[in-house]
Amino acid sequence: MPTAENERPMRIGEDFKVLLAADDIATRVRELGQAITRDYEGKELTLVAVLKGSFLFMADLARAIDLPLTCEFLGLSSYGSRRESSGIVKITQDLTQPVKGRHVLVVEDIIDTGLTISYLISNLRTRLPESVRIAALLYKPDNNKIPCKIDYLGFTIPNKFVVGYGLDLDGCYRNLPFIGVKSPDDAA
Ligand code: IMP
Repeated sequence: MPTAENERPMRIGEDFKVLLAADDIATRVRELGQAITRDYEGKELTLVAVLKGSFLFMADLARAIDLPLTCEFLGLSSYGSRRESSGIVKITQDLTQPVKGRHVLVVEDIIDTGLTISYLISNLRTRLPESVRIAALLYKPDNNKIPCKIDYLGFTIPNKFVVGYGLDLDGCYRNLPFIGVKSPDDAA
């Protein structure tokens, strides 16, 4: 039974400074999908999304790729503070199908220090895929410690903690349609 409290309009986006609007994200994701479609023509792809932050990017990118593909999901937990990766990563949910001999495209929400993606790429290579490439929606170069080749990049952003479009702060804000910075604390 709905109450007056949960019938209120959604106000969750109000405290954020928009860094990337929903339309800009959609346009860029379509462009990435077109580039991937061209580059992998005649091949079959396996998209590997890193949970949870990549779930919306994966959903939109997969629909922008006009190729036969399969979707896999990998759960990772990183030990560290809530805003900083330690690089010590544990697989909490593994792939359901082997990727041996497959063209794997890792779908990441954001590359910050690069520690998580570098662990992931090393791990995937031990499974003998035909190829491994990276599609990342966001890249924060200022904080990067381990450079890696991002084959398909959405946007380069400043060194701010961003949320929305899958990205969270303490598990919240993943459902914002834009990518933003919580204000006023982080907006400066
Ligand atoms: P890295 O290992 O430092 O490259 O961080 C990668 C992971 O840290 C991402 O997959 C996110 O889960 C998280 N992360 C890094 N920066 C942000 C941010 O600005 N907002 C939300 N999550 C972030």
